[in-house]
Formats: sequence, structure tokens, C-alpha cells
Amino acid sequence: MATMNAAVVTSFDEPPHYQPFTAPVPASTDEVLADVLAAGLHPRVRSGATGQHYTSSGTLPMIPGIDGVGRLPNGTLVYFAAADDVLGTMADKAIVDPRRSVELPDGTDVAKVAAAMNPAMSSWVALRRRVPLQPGQTVLVLGATGNAGTMAVQVAKRLGAGRVIGAGRNLARLQALRPAGADDIIQLTDDADATSAALAAEADIVLDYLWGTPARQAIMTLLTARDDRSRALDWIQIGAVAGPTAEIPSVALRSANFRLQGCGQGSVSPRAYLAELPPLVAEITAGTIAVHPNPIPLSKVEEAWTTPETPGERTVLIP
Ligand SMILES: NC(=O)c1ccc[n+]([C@@H]2O[C@H](COP(=O)([O-])OP(=O)(O)OC[C@H]3O[C@@H](n4cnc5c(N)ncnc54)[C@H](OP(=O)(O)O)[C@@H]3O)[C@@H](O)[C@H]2O)c1
Repeated sequence: MATMNAAVVTSFDEPPHYQPFTAPVPASTDEVLADVLAAGLHPRVRSGATGQHYTSSGTLPMIPGIDGVGRLPNGTLVYFAAADDVLGTMADKAIVDPRRSVELPDGTDVAKVAAAMNPAMSSWVALRRRVPLQPGQTVLVLGATGNAGTMAVQVAKRLGAGRVIGAGRNLARLQALRPAGADDIIQLTDDADATSAALAAEADIVLDYLWGTPARQAIMTLLTARDDRSRALDWIQIGAVAGPTAEIPSVALRSANFRLQGCGQGSVSPRAYLAELPPLVAEITAGTIAVHPNPIPLSKVEEAWTTPETPGERTVLIP
């Protein structure tokens, strides 16, 4: 059996260790063993490596990594999504199912693609598959200061939003959203009254990366601020960095045309996700979405895992 080097999780309480691991073997003629060139360390990857993601099977040892850029045996450069939650992409080699991959032009910045696809996909799929954005609509990004939120501002503009509002707690990062396309910014602070007053904006769609207390507060504020409560407010729940639960008063759903749904693995079919890969790759390789990868050798995975990310950057492991 061939071996390779990989990031290996042997306990859900520890970061992965860089060590030899048996190279995976394609399970069917549809699959090939590719050389991995870059794999992003996304929040989703971290939650999978602690066994806490809702898709986690709890199997150990496991190789983390949900996606990456690789080179197929025939020389083709691809972005691919891992087919397996146990044998992921943070390794010298990974299984690629060409149906879950998209070809990249030679010369593509592999770290940029590996850094961008997961965070950018969150808003791209939400605004194309969950609530198709109508030209000119107003989109509010709740939690706009992270990688996914910052890209959501650019994606919403690119997909035709008339107005994009970025909301978050970090003022410096919020201000950096203006050159990225935000028409307005709202700072979320511990002062509930001031935050509510600032949040009393008209919006058609909210892309919510926070959930928890900020979402509860924002839902009621946005709904009560509406001139016409029968005008739809589409709330798309995407991330939960501020808390896994939010207490939503039942009146929110009765007193206004409030439509609440989520966007993620499960609420959107794998087929729909795959259909969105090529256009999104095209946007990223064309440079319409700003990306700031922080490439780190895979051999330093333990250090990369435990070192806080520089805000605005996405760690990318390079085998
Ligand atoms: N469903 C999907 O398809 C999908 C896809 C990608 C990502 N996600 C999820 O989206 C979330 C964000 O992902 P990401 O890649 O953008 O992560 P990230 O780059 O680490 O950004 C997270 C940001 O959240 C902000 N934050 C943390 N706690 C906060 C709070 N209490 N209030 C306001 N802001 C807070 C932090 O900003 P400051 O420190 O600057 O305030 C941080 O920059 C994660 O939960 C991720 O799992 C979902």
C-alpha cells in the first residue's frame, strides 16, 4: 500500500498531526487519485475536525479538508470538493470525482481559489438557489467582517443588488467594506438601543452569518422598522458564529411577511452546489471577488491550526 503525508486527526480534542498515512484508493472508475496543491482551512473544516459538524460521522482517524485544488493524473488542474468526510483534502493526495470538480486554467493562483470557494459559495448559492436575487434589491449582510461576509458584500453587488449594507461588530473591518462595494455599514455594539436604531433599515434579503443574540435583535428591529410589513423579508441563515440558537418571538412570523430559511449542505442539493461551481470559479479567477490567502506548508498544520488567523485572511495549506 502506498503512503503519503497528511494532516491526521487522531483525537477530536487535538489539532491534526502531520504524519504518514495510507494513500486512498479510488473506489470506482469514476474516481482518480490527484495531487493536492492547496486546501483551505475554513471554519467548516475546523468543525469537522472536532467531530462537531452536523455532517460528521465521528470516524477516527480522519484527514480534514472539504475542498481544494489538485492536479489529476492526466495533468488537468481542478478545484474539487471532497467526496468523503473521513479522507479529506489536507494530504499529499486525495480522491477526486471529476463530477465534483471543475477545471481551472493553467496559471491559476491555486491558493486564491482554495481560499475563496467555500466562503464565497455561501452567499453565491444563497442568492442564486435559496432566494434568487432580483435586480435592485437591498441585501443586508449580518456578520460582514469575516471572509464569507466580506465576500457576500461583493457577491451581492455582482449578482445585481441595488444596495448592500454590511453589519458587524468590528468597525475597522466594516469600514474596509465600503471600497469592496458596501453602500452602508452598521456597527453592532453592546448598546442594544443604539444597535437597534442603527439596524432600522429597509432590506429585502438578509444573509446571516451570526445567528444568536444579534440575529434575534436584528429580526425584530428590521421587521418593526418596515413601512409595509407585508413586503417580504427573506432571511437566509448561513453561519452561527454568535451562537447556535436564537429566540425568535412567534409574532415575528405573524406580524410581517418574514420568511426564514437556511443555506448549507442539506438545504441545497449536491447537484445544485455542483452546478454553481463553474460560474463561481470564473468570478474568482477573473478577480471580481477579493481574496487574501495565507499559504502555509502542510507540514506546519499543527501550528496553523492553533495560530489565530489574521482578520481578512484565509489559511491555505500547501502539501
Ligand atoms: N452555510 C454555508 O454554506 C457556509 C459556507 C461558508 C461559511 N459558513 C459559515 O459562515 C461563518 C463565517 O465563515 P467565515 O469563513 O467568514 O469565517 P471567518 O473568516 O472566521 O469570519 C468569522 C467572523 O465572524 C465575526 N464574529 C465572530 N463572532 C461575532 C459576533 N459575536 N458578532 C459579530 N461578528 C462576529 C468575526 O469578526 P470580527 O472579529 O471582526 O468581529 C470573524 O471575522 C462560519 O460560521 C462558517 O461556518 C457557512
